[in-house]
Amino acid sequence: MENPFTTSPYVSKSLFCDREEELNTLCQYIEAGSNITLISPRRYGKTGLIYRTFDALREQKKPIRTFYVDIYATQSIDDFIEKLTESLVDVLGKTSAIKKLFKAIAGIRPVLSYDPINHNAKLSFTFANEQEKKLSIKAIFDFLEAEDQKVLIAIDEFQQIREYDEAGYMEALLRSYIQPLKNVQFIFCSSKRHIMTNMFADARSPFYESTRFLYLDKINADTYSAFIEQKFAEGGKTITQEAIDYILEWTRRHTFYTQSLCNLIYQQANKKVTLLNVYQAIDMTLKSNAETFIQWRELLTKQQWNFLKAVAKEGTLTQPTASKFLQKYNIGTPSNAKRILNALVEKELLLSLASLDSTSYVVYNVFLSRWLETI
Ligand SMILES: Nc1ncnc2c1ncn2[C@@H]1O[C@H](COP(=O)(O)OP(=O)(O)O)[C@@H](O)[C@H]1O
Ligand SMILES: [Mg+2]
Repeated sequence: MENPFTTSPYVSKSLFCDREEELNTLCQYIEAGSNITLISPRRYGKTGLIYRTFDALREQKKPIRTFYVDIYATQSIDDFIEKLTESLVDVLGKTSAIKKLFKAIAGIRPVLSYDPINHNAKLSFTFANEQEKKLSIKAIFDFLEAEDQKVLIAIDEFQQIREYDEAGYMEALLRSYIQPLKNVQFIFCSSKRHIMTNMFADARSPFYESTRFLYLDKINADTYSAFIEQKFAEGGKTITQEAIDYILEWTRRHTFYTQSLCNLIYQQANKKVTLLNVYQAIDMTLKSNAETFIQWRELLTKQQWNFLKAVAKEGTLTQPTASKFLQKYNIGTPSNAKRILNALVEKELLLSLASLDSTSYVVYNVFLSRWLETI
Protein backbone atom coordinates (compact mmCIF):
# COMPACT_ATOMS: atom_id res chain seq x y z
CA MET A 1 0.00 0.00 0.00
CA GLU A 2 1.09 3.51 -0.79
CA ASN A 3 2.27 5.74 2.04
CA PRO A 4 -0.89 7.45 3.37
CA PHE A 5 1.02 10.41 4.84
CA THR A 6 1.50 12.58 1.84
CA THR A 7 3.59 15.70 1.70
CA SER A 8 1.98 17.13 -1.41
CA PRO A 9 -0.74 19.72 -0.77
CA TYR A 10 -3.69 17.54 -1.72
CA VAL A 11 -4.08 14.02 -3.00
CA SER A 12 -7.55 12.87 -2.01
CA LYS A 13 -10.23 13.34 0.58
CA SER A 14 -9.26 10.15 2.37
CA LEU A 15 -5.65 11.26 2.85
CA PHE A 16 -6.70 14.71 4.00
CA CYS A 17 -7.11 15.15 7.73
CA ASP A 18 -10.17 16.99 8.99
CA ARG A 19 -10.66 20.68 8.08
CA GLU A 20 -14.38 19.91 7.96
CA GLU A 21 -15.36 23.08 9.76
CA GLU A 22 -13.13 25.29 7.62
CA LEU A 23 -14.40 23.53 4.50
CA ASN A 24 -17.98 24.20 5.57
CA THR A 25 -17.24 27.84 6.20
CA LEU A 26 -15.57 28.19 2.81
CA CYS A 27 -18.48 26.49 1.06
CA GLN A 28 -20.94 28.78 2.83
CA TYR A 29 -19.00 31.89 1.85
CA ILE A 30 -18.80 30.64 -1.72
CA GLU A 31 -22.50 29.89 -1.75
CA ALA A 32 -23.17 33.40 -0.47
CA GLY A 33 -21.17 34.86 -3.32
CA SER A 34 -18.45 36.36 -1.14
CA ASN A 35 -14.80 36.80 -1.93
CA ILE A 36 -12.53 35.26 0.68
CA THR A 37 -9.18 35.96 2.27
CA LEU A 38 -7.54 32.76 3.53
CA ILE A 39 -4.63 33.20 5.91
CA SER A 40 -2.39 30.96 7.99
CA PRO A 41 1.31 30.45 8.62
CA ARG A 42 3.22 28.69 5.88
CA ARG A 43 2.76 24.91 5.68
CA TYR A 44 -0.41 24.73 7.79
CA GLY A 45 -2.49 23.59 4.82
CA LYS A 46 -3.99 26.53 2.89
CA THR A 47 -3.19 25.21 -0.56
CA GLY A 48 -4.39 21.76 0.45
CA LEU A 49 -7.64 23.23 1.73
CA ILE A 50 -8.21 25.09 -1.54
CA TYR A 51 -7.91 21.84 -3.51
CA ARG A 52 -10.03 20.05 -0.91
CA THR A 53 -12.71 22.72 -1.41
CA PHE A 54 -12.56 22.39 -5.19
CA ASP A 55 -12.95 18.65 -4.76
CA ALA A 56 -15.95 19.06 -2.45
CA LEU A 57 -17.65 21.43 -4.89
CA ARG A 58 -17.15 18.87 -7.64
CA GLU A 59 -18.46 16.09 -5.41
CA GLN A 60 -21.57 18.11 -4.57
CA LYS A 61 -21.98 18.75 -8.29
CA LYS A 62 -22.07 22.48 -7.75
CA PRO A 63 -22.25 24.26 -11.08
CA ILE A 64 -19.05 26.18 -10.53
CA ARG A 65 -15.75 26.14 -12.39
CA THR A 66 -12.63 26.31 -10.25
CA PHE A 67 -9.23 27.71 -11.11
CA TYR A 68 -6.05 27.69 -9.05
CA VAL A 69 -3.36 30.27 -9.75
CA ASP A 70 -0.11 30.30 -7.80
CA ILE A 71 1.62 33.65 -8.24
CA TYR A 72 4.53 32.98 -5.88
CA ALA A 73 7.10 33.15 -8.68
CA THR A 74 5.61 36.16 -10.46
CA GLN A 75 7.44 39.47 -10.53
CA SER A 76 5.25 41.69 -12.66
CA ILE A 77 1.85 42.25 -14.15
CA ASP A 78 3.03 40.40 -17.28
CA ASP A 79 3.81 37.31 -15.21
CA PHE A 80 0.45 37.65 -13.48
CA ILE A 81 -1.42 37.64 -16.77
CA GLU A 82 0.60 34.70 -18.00
CA LYS A 83 -0.09 32.60 -14.88
CA LEU A 84 -3.77 33.49 -14.86
CA THR A 85 -4.17 32.59 -18.53
CA GLU A 86 -2.17 29.38 -18.20
CA SER A 87 -4.46 28.22 -15.45
CA LEU A 88 -7.49 28.99 -17.60
CA VAL A 89 -5.95 27.11 -20.51
CA ASP A 90 -5.25 24.14 -18.23
CA VAL A 91 -8.89 23.85 -17.25
CA LEU A 92 -10.59 25.01 -20.43
CA GLY A 93 -8.01 23.63 -22.84
CA LYS A 94 -10.24 21.05 -24.46
CA THR A 95 -13.50 22.97 -24.40
CA SER A 96 -14.91 25.40 -26.89
CA ALA A 97 -14.59 28.12 -24.26
CA ILE A 98 -10.90 28.33 -24.95
CA LYS A 99 -11.53 29.73 -28.40
CA LYS A 100 -13.74 32.40 -26.90
CA LEU A 101 -11.02 33.25 -24.41
CA PHE A 102 -8.45 33.75 -27.12
CA LYS A 103 -10.86 35.79 -29.11
CA ALA A 104 -11.52 37.94 -26.06
CA ILE A 105 -7.86 38.67 -25.54
CA ALA A 106 -6.93 38.67 -29.21
CA GLY A 107 -6.34 42.39 -29.09
CA ILE A 108 -3.30 41.81 -26.95
CA ARG A 109 -1.59 39.30 -29.24
CA PRO A 110 -1.13 36.20 -27.12
CA VAL A 111 1.31 33.81 -28.72
CA LEU A 112 0.37 30.23 -28.08
CA SER A 113 3.23 27.91 -28.85
CA TYR A 114 3.62 24.21 -28.27
CA ASP A 115 6.40 22.60 -26.40
CA PRO A 116 7.08 19.66 -28.78
CA ILE A 117 8.71 17.52 -26.09
CA ASN A 118 6.04 17.69 -23.38
CA HIS A 119 3.18 18.60 -25.70
CA ASN A 120 2.25 21.43 -23.34
CA ALA A 121 0.77 24.69 -24.34
CA LYS A 122 3.01 27.57 -23.51
CA LEU A 123 1.74 31.10 -23.60
CA SER A 124 3.62 34.24 -24.10
CA PHE A 125 2.40 37.75 -24.58
CA THR A 126 3.68 40.83 -26.18
CA PHE A 127 2.31 44.08 -24.93
CA ALA A 128 2.71 47.39 -26.61
CA ASN A 129 2.21 49.34 -23.41
CA GLU A 130 0.84 49.47 -19.86
CA GLN A 131 -2.65 50.15 -21.13
CA GLU A 132 -2.71 46.87 -23.06
CA LYS A 133 -1.72 44.95 -19.95
CA LYS A 134 -4.53 46.49 -17.96
CA LEU A 135 -7.01 45.80 -20.73
CA SER A 136 -5.95 42.19 -21.02
CA ILE A 137 -6.68 41.53 -17.34
CA LYS A 138 -10.03 43.17 -17.81
CA ALA A 139 -10.67 41.11 -20.94
CA ILE A 140 -9.97 37.87 -19.05
CA PHE A 141 -12.32 38.80 -16.19
CA ASP A 142 -14.99 39.96 -18.62
CA PHE A 143 -14.69 36.68 -20.47
CA LEU A 144 -15.22 34.74 -17.22
CA GLU A 145 -18.07 37.03 -16.23
CA ALA A 146 -19.85 36.13 -19.46
CA GLU A 147 -19.45 32.35 -18.97
CA ASP A 148 -22.64 30.45 -18.29
CA GLN A 149 -21.12 28.65 -15.32
CA LYS A 150 -20.05 30.34 -12.11
CA VAL A 151 -16.34 30.79 -11.66
CA LEU A 152 -14.13 30.51 -8.57
CA ILE A 153 -10.51 31.61 -8.81
CA ALA A 154 -8.09 30.93 -5.98
CA ILE A 155 -5.02 33.13 -6.15
CA ASP A 156 -2.33 31.64 -3.94
CA GLU A 157 0.53 33.69 -2.46
CA PHE A 158 -1.44 36.83 -3.21
CA GLN A 159 0.94 39.02 -1.18
CA GLN A 160 3.29 38.74 -4.14
CA ILE A 161 1.52 41.54 -6.03
CA ARG A 162 3.12 43.94 -3.57
CA GLU A 163 6.49 42.99 -5.05
CA TYR A 164 5.57 43.92 -8.62
CA ASP A 165 7.01 46.87 -10.48
CA GLU A 166 3.35 47.85 -10.82
CA ALA A 167 2.70 47.49 -7.06
CA GLY A 168 1.70 51.14 -6.91
CA TYR A 169 -1.50 50.57 -8.83
CA MET A 170 -1.96 46.78 -8.98
CA GLU A 171 -4.38 46.57 -6.03
CA ALA A 172 -6.52 49.48 -7.14
CA LEU A 173 -6.61 48.04 -10.65
CA LEU A 174 -7.62 44.53 -9.56
CA ARG A 175 -10.16 45.89 -7.13
CA SER A 176 -11.82 48.02 -9.78
CA TYR A 177 -12.07 45.07 -12.18
CA ILE A 178 -13.17 42.57 -9.54
CA GLN A 179 -15.77 44.66 -7.73
CA PRO A 180 -18.45 44.66 -10.46
CA LEU A 181 -18.11 40.91 -11.20
CA LYS A 182 -21.21 38.87 -10.37
CA ASN A 183 -20.24 35.57 -11.89
CA VAL A 184 -16.66 35.37 -10.67
CA GLN A 185 -15.51 34.85 -7.09
CA PHE A 186 -12.06 34.89 -5.57
CA ILE A 187 -10.10 33.28 -2.77
CA PHE A 188 -7.02 35.34 -1.93
CA CYS A 189 -4.56 33.20 -0.09
CA SER A 190 -1.37 34.08 1.79
CA SER A 191 0.85 33.32 4.77
CA LYS A 192 1.84 36.96 5.20
CA ARG A 193 -0.68 38.00 7.80
CA HIS A 194 0.54 41.58 8.12
CA ILE A 195 0.46 42.29 4.42
CA MET A 196 -2.97 40.72 4.02
CA THR A 197 -4.38 42.63 6.98
CA ASN A 198 -3.03 45.78 5.43
CA MET A 199 -4.55 44.95 2.05
CA PHE A 200 -7.97 43.82 3.23
CA ALA A 201 -8.57 45.43 6.60
CA ASP A 202 -7.04 48.88 6.26
CA ALA A 203 -9.53 51.59 5.37
CA ARG A 204 -6.98 53.22 3.06
CA SER A 205 -6.51 50.13 0.89
CA PRO A 206 -8.53 49.41 -2.27
CA PHE A 207 -9.54 45.94 -1.10
CA TYR A 208 -10.77 47.23 2.28
CA GLU A 209 -13.69 45.15 3.59
CA SER A 210 -14.20 43.49 0.22
CA THR A 211 -13.69 39.93 1.50
CA ARG A 212 -14.54 37.61 4.35
CA PHE A 213 -11.62 36.33 6.37
CA LEU A 214 -10.78 32.77 7.23
CA TYR A 215 -7.82 32.11 9.50
CA LEU A 216 -6.57 28.57 9.38
CA ASP A 217 -5.34 27.26 12.71
CA LYS A 218 -3.65 23.97 13.57
CA ILE A 219 -5.62 20.77 13.15
CA ASN A 220 -7.28 19.69 16.40
CA ALA A 221 -5.08 17.28 18.39
CA ASP A 222 -7.69 14.56 18.99
CA THR A 223 -8.76 14.62 15.36
CA TYR A 224 -5.19 14.40 14.09
CA SER A 225 -4.48 11.62 16.56
CA ALA A 226 -7.44 9.58 15.34
CA PHE A 227 -6.41 10.20 11.72
CA ILE A 228 -2.87 8.92 12.32
CA GLU A 229 -4.11 5.83 14.12
CA GLN A 230 -6.59 5.09 11.36
CA LYS A 231 -4.07 5.49 8.52
CA PHE A 232 -1.67 3.07 10.21
CA ALA A 233 -4.53 0.65 10.83
CA GLU A 234 -5.64 0.78 7.19
CA GLY A 235 -2.11 -0.24 6.25
CA GLY A 236 -2.25 -3.19 8.64
CA LYS A 237 -0.08 -1.52 11.27
CA THR A 238 -0.65 -0.49 14.86
CA ILE A 239 0.77 2.55 16.59
CA THR A 240 0.64 3.24 20.32
CA GLN A 241 -1.17 6.29 21.68
CA GLU A 242 2.04 7.27 23.42
CA ALA A 243 3.83 7.33 20.06
CA ILE A 244 1.11 9.43 18.43
CA ASP A 245 1.09 11.92 21.29
CA TYR A 246 4.82 12.29 21.00
CA ILE A 247 4.66 12.89 17.23
CA LEU A 248 2.04 15.61 17.65
CA GLU A 249 3.90 17.27 20.48
CA TRP A 250 7.31 17.12 18.81
CA THR A 251 6.04 18.47 15.46
CA ARG A 252 3.82 21.03 17.26
CA ARG A 253 1.00 19.87 14.95
CA HIS A 254 2.47 22.09 12.25
CA THR A 255 0.88 20.09 9.44
CA PHE A 256 3.76 19.73 7.01
CA TYR A 257 6.15 18.57 9.74
CA THR A 258 3.62 16.19 11.27
CA GLN A 259 2.93 14.67 7.85
CA SER A 260 6.58 14.47 7.02
CA LEU A 261 7.51 12.66 10.24
CA CYS A 262 4.53 10.30 9.97
CA ASN A 263 5.53 9.55 6.39
CA LEU A 264 8.98 8.43 7.50
CA ILE A 265 7.70 6.44 10.49
CA TYR A 266 5.19 4.68 8.26
CA GLN A 267 7.82 3.90 5.69
CA GLN A 268 10.15 2.43 8.31
CA ALA A 269 7.48 0.59 10.28
CA ASN A 270 6.89 -3.10 10.55
CA LYS A 271 3.61 -4.21 12.09
CA LYS A 272 3.84 -2.36 15.37
CA VAL A 273 4.99 1.20 15.95
CA THR A 274 6.14 2.32 19.38
CA LEU A 275 7.82 5.37 20.86
CA LEU A 276 11.19 3.86 20.00
CA ASN A 277 10.35 3.96 16.29
CA VAL A 278 9.36 7.60 16.64
CA TYR A 279 12.71 8.43 18.26
CA GLN A 280 14.52 6.69 15.42
CA ALA A 281 12.60 8.58 12.75
CA ILE A 282 13.26 11.87 14.53
CA ASP A 283 16.94 11.07 14.66
CA MET A 284 17.01 10.33 10.93
CA THR A 285 15.06 13.49 10.15
CA LEU A 286 17.39 15.75 12.09
CA LYS A 287 20.50 14.07 10.66
CA SER A 288 19.30 14.38 7.08
CA ASN A 289 18.52 18.07 7.54
CA ALA A 290 21.63 19.05 9.48
CA GLU A 291 23.72 19.98 6.42
CA THR A 292 21.09 22.43 5.23
CA PHE A 293 20.66 23.97 8.66
CA ILE A 294 24.39 24.48 9.01
CA GLN A 295 24.39 26.30 5.68
CA TRP A 296 21.59 28.57 6.85
CA ARG A 297 23.83 29.67 9.68
CA GLU A 298 26.15 31.21 7.10
CA LEU A 299 23.35 33.53 6.03
CA LEU A 300 22.90 34.99 9.50
CA THR A 301 24.97 37.13 11.80
CA LYS A 302 26.33 35.53 14.94
CA GLN A 303 23.83 37.49 17.00
CA GLN A 304 20.89 36.40 14.85
CA TRP A 305 21.94 32.77 15.04
CA ASN A 306 22.34 33.02 18.80
CA PHE A 307 18.88 34.55 19.10
CA LEU A 308 17.31 31.88 16.92
CA LYS A 309 18.89 29.19 19.06
CA ALA A 310 17.59 30.93 22.17
CA VAL A 311 14.02 30.89 20.85
CA ALA A 312 14.39 27.22 19.93
CA LYS A 313 15.55 26.41 23.44
CA GLU A 314 12.68 28.37 24.95
CA GLY A 315 10.19 26.65 22.63
CA THR A 316 7.87 29.65 22.65
CA LEU A 317 9.13 33.14 23.36
CA THR A 318 6.58 35.53 24.82
CA GLN A 319 8.74 38.29 26.28
CA PRO A 320 11.60 38.96 23.90
CA THR A 321 12.80 42.03 25.78
CA ALA A 322 12.50 40.72 29.35
CA SER A 323 15.82 40.98 31.18
CA LYS A 324 15.65 37.35 32.24
CA PHE A 325 15.66 36.20 28.62
CA LEU A 326 18.26 38.76 27.53
CA GLN A 327 20.66 37.74 30.28
CA LYS A 328 20.16 34.02 29.98
CA TYR A 329 21.18 34.03 26.30
CA ASN A 330 23.53 36.98 26.34
CA ILE A 331 21.49 39.02 23.89
CA GLY A 332 22.26 42.57 24.95
CA THR A 333 19.90 45.49 25.23
CA PRO A 334 16.13 45.32 24.67
CA SER A 335 16.47 47.45 21.53
CA ASN A 336 19.11 45.04 20.27
CA ALA A 337 16.70 42.18 20.88
CA LYS A 338 13.92 43.98 19.00
CA ARG A 339 16.13 44.63 16.01
CA ILE A 340 17.28 41.00 15.77
CA LEU A 341 13.77 39.73 16.33
CA ASN A 342 12.36 41.86 13.50
CA ALA A 343 15.12 40.74 11.14
CA LEU A 344 14.41 37.07 11.89
CA VAL A 345 10.65 37.52 11.44
CA GLU A 346 11.32 39.33 8.18
CA LYS A 347 13.44 36.38 6.98
CA GLU A 348 10.63 34.02 8.04
CA LEU A 349 12.95 32.18 10.40
CA LEU A 350 10.76 33.20 13.31
CA LEU A 351 6.99 33.03 13.23
CA SER A 352 5.04 35.57 15.24
CA LEU A 353 1.77 34.27 16.60
CA ALA A 354 -0.68 36.92 17.68
CA SER A 355 -3.46 36.32 20.15
CA LEU A 356 -5.84 38.84 21.66
CA ASP A 357 -3.54 39.95 24.44
CA SER A 358 -0.04 38.91 23.42
CA THR A 359 2.36 38.02 20.64
CA SER A 360 4.64 35.03 20.91
CA TYR A 361 7.44 33.72 18.73
CA VAL A 362 8.56 30.28 17.63
CA VAL A 363 11.19 29.08 15.18
CA TYR A 364 9.17 28.81 11.96
CA ASN A 365 10.68 25.59 10.66
CA VAL A 366 9.88 22.95 13.30
CA PHE A 367 12.71 20.62 12.28
CA LEU A 368 15.19 23.50 12.51
CA SER A 369 13.76 24.39 15.89
CA ARG A 370 14.17 20.86 17.23
CA TRP A 371 17.66 20.62 15.76
CA LEU A 372 18.73 23.93 17.32
CA GLU A 373 17.60 22.62 20.69
CA THR A 374 20.13 19.83 20.41
CA ILE A 375 23.23 21.83 19.53
N1 LIG B 1 -5.59 18.46 6.24
C1 LIG B 1 -4.42 17.90 5.91
N2 LIG B 1 -4.24 16.56 6.01
C2 LIG B 1 -3.06 16.01 5.69
N3 LIG B 1 -2.00 16.68 5.26
C3 LIG B 1 -2.11 18.01 5.14
C4 LIG B 1 -3.32 18.70 5.44
N4 LIG B 1 -3.14 20.01 5.22
C5 LIG B 1 -1.87 20.15 4.80
N5 LIG B 1 -1.25 18.96 4.75
C6 LIG B 1 0.15 18.72 4.42
O1 LIG B 1 0.90 19.81 4.87
C7 LIG B 1 1.71 20.32 3.84
C8 LIG B 1 1.58 21.82 3.79
O2 LIG B 1 0.31 22.14 3.29
P1 LIG B 1 0.08 23.33 2.27
O3 LIG B 1 -1.34 23.26 1.87
O4 LIG B 1 1.10 23.31 1.20
O5 LIG B 1 0.33 24.56 3.26
P2 LIG B 1 0.30 26.12 2.96
O6 LIG B 1 -0.35 26.34 1.65
O7 LIG B 1 -0.49 26.68 4.12
O8 LIG B 1 1.73 26.58 3.01
C9 LIG B 1 1.26 19.67 2.55
O9 LIG B 1 2.39 19.17 1.92
C10 LIG B 1 0.34 18.55 2.93
O10 LIG B 1 0.98 17.32 2.72
MG1 LIG C 1 0.51 27.16 -0.07
